[in-house]
Amino acid sequence: MARKREKNSAFESDVLDGLSATPKHLPSRYFYDDKGSRLFQEIMRLPEYYLTACETEIFTHRAENIVDELLADGHEIDVVELGAGDGSKTAILLSSLLARAPSTRYLPIDISHEAMGELVRNFGERLPKLTIEPQVGDYFSILNSIRKVSKRRKAILFLGSNIGNFAAEAATEFFRSLRAVMDDGDLLFVGFDLQKDPRVIHLAYDDPAGVTAQFNLNLLERINRELNGTFRLENFLHYANYRPIEGSARSYLISREAHTVGVAGKLFEFRRWEPIHMEISQKYTVTMIEDYARNTGFRVTMNFFDDREYYCDSLWQPIAR
Ligand code: AVJ
Repeated sequence: MARKREKNSAFESDVLDGLSATPKHLPSRYFYDDKGSRLFQEIMRLPEYYLTACETEIFTHRAENIVDELLADGHEIDVVELGAGDGSKTAILLSSLLARAPSTRYLPIDISHEAMGELVRNFGERLPKLTIEPQVGDYFSILNSIRKVSKRRKAILFLGSNIGNFAAEAATEFFRSLRAVMDDGDLLFVGFDLQKDPRVIHLAYDDPAGVTAQFNLNLLERINRELNGTFRLENFLHYANYRPIEGSARSYLISREAHTVGVAGKLFEFRRWEPIHMEISQKYTVTMIEDYARNTGFRVTMNFFDDREYYCDSLWQPIAR
């Protein structure tokens, strides 16, 4: 009980802050409870959600080139993956890496115990020879402790355009914090979704089957369950748009009626058609990627693209301090 209360407190205060703000917002990092993680898996299989297919294409077609870069200085490496999820894309890369460097170790980090368990089972079947040391918890403290026990060069992976959920200042802050826990010989490999035909992007966040709508509405359900909320899901409409000037896809839940919702003993008024901003998924240009690298202590070693140039996996090297 005490543990549960403590776990809920950051969630509770973030939700209460977001619902008290003008305009209202809720943090998308709370989408991923067990049901949310399953819905995201379903999103990744939707034909409209091109991101996963693009990154899989890059890893499949360019594996040898990527491995060449990762092993360029001739030393053994630890592959650290932030927010590994089920690790299925990474498995493609690791299998090419293992063929050339059998001692490679894989250190996936995720906040979800359940996801890590599944990942270990998957890899046990697919790559039984791989040494895998999963960790559950906070990226930066884990990276810092890995650094103390392993003298090996690290390749840090942050895939799936997960960076897109950060606003610009938060992304800069994130890359700088990573740089601070990296050694000069380490590498950072980041997946960025690129700006493209706005209609393609829009559909990826507004699929006709309505899975993305369910994914957003699931956070209201989670609030009802964990924070004593009284959201009625049928009162909210999922709305997604893409702004081509900013390069950002955004999603909202819109109140269909004027009504009041309770959360953790507090009351929140909704106007008719009032939005809750749920998520930002930033899309990038190659120039933006280079600017991020330069402004946060890195240089771009090489960019890898899919055939349509929808997506870019960018390999960065720290600039010596
Ligand atoms: C997991 C953050 C990369 O923003 O594209 C998918 C999450 N949101 N559909 C994204 C998401 C709506 C996804 N990321």
